Amino acid sequence: MLTNSVTEQLKIAFPMIMAPMFLVSNEEMVKSAMDSGIMGTFPTLNFRHENELVEVLQHLNAHLQQTDSKGCYGVNLIVQKTNVYYQNHLRICVDNRVPFYITSLGNPKEVIVAAHAYGAKVYCDVTDLHFAEKCAALGCDGFIAVCKGAGGHAGPYSMQELLPLLHQEFPDIPTIAAGGIATGQNIAKALALGAQGVSIGTRFICSEEAKVSNDYKQAILHSTKEDIVLTTRLSGTPSNVINTEYVQRIGLKQNFIEHFLSNHPKTKKYFKMFVQFRGMKALEKAIIPGNYKNIWVAGTSVQDIHDIKPCSVLIHRLIEEYEQVVATK
Ligand SMILES: Cc1cc2nc3c(=O)[nH]c(=O)nc-3n(C[C@H](O)[C@H](O)[C@H](O)COP(=O)(O)O)c2cc1C
Repeated sequence: MLTNSVTEQLKIAFPMIMAPMFLVSNEEMVKSAMDSGIMGTFPTLNFRHENELVEVLQHLNAHLQQTDSKGCYGVNLIVQKTNVYYQNHLRICVDNRVPFYITSLGNPKEVIVAAHAYGAKVYCDVTDLHFAEKCAALGCDGFIAVCKGAGGHAGPYSMQELLPLLHQEFPDIPTIAAGGIATGQNIAKALALGAQGVSIGTRFICSEEAKVSNDYKQAILHSTKEDIVLTTRLSGTPSNVINTEYVQRIGLKQNFIEHFLSNHPKTKKYFKMFVQFRGMKALEKAIIPGNYKNIWVAGTSVQDIHDIKPCSVLIHRLIEEYEQVVATK
């Protein structure tokens, strides 16, 4: 097993994060990640009904204590002002002493202050050097470098471009590479480029524990990286999805009126909230079996995904592949 600053800081056996995935991540997946010695995470937005989030956190805390797990768990908070659940979810997470946070799409200051008050760690999603500088100044514990091929919101830069820059500018802040990783070979590449760990999402959609429709899983199994397209129709922020007929029909860009409303100072906040709500509802419908409005979020690692297995099998295989690459060097 590889140990480094990330495994030490996050109290895990191997520096891998099962990435937070809206509507995909669930308690079973996170527990499997914990039992396999990695960091299992989920977006708090997956638990929006009364008390759901509290219950899941209680179960995960009990799991952490009872099973003497080699891994750990964390939550993802969308810290944008337009996320109406943010304040309440942050309060619930702090009350339940969540050990690890990933922040995305906004200013992470409040989360960093609240988490550090009881010793929890905060890694911030970054897509460029400029935002990384802001997060570093606020005292984040690590970066998640969200690169070009990532499923969901993706950055503009490839791993080859972003990882060495972050490593050079912030040698003391660990960077986790995210985007396009579904093999041990890719883990080794990311680490060689300066990352201290990896975050993997799309690969785990094709796990037995993911409760999405079989059509979604089959679409991943049958896609190549050329089938992945970047759209702003979903949430306003560029997101990688599978290029289904429905995605082609609705187009990849916001129309003139949507663009105007998203940028006008008077309408911007409320229109963004509306777009995000609409995108959330569209994704919720898309994972229901038989729905024809197929918007399936996935990244370019679909290229390397050929089977549906339990999460534990996938994690152990990724680690084994990585160890083989290192051993043959
Ligand atoms: C289906 C899906 C949903 C996602 N939802 C979220 C989310 O709610 N919050 C977030 O910060 N990132 C989200 N992501 C991005 C992942 O956390 C991670 O950055 C990405 O999956 C890494 O790239 P990969 O999919 O190529 O492994 C999502 C990704 C996928 C595939």
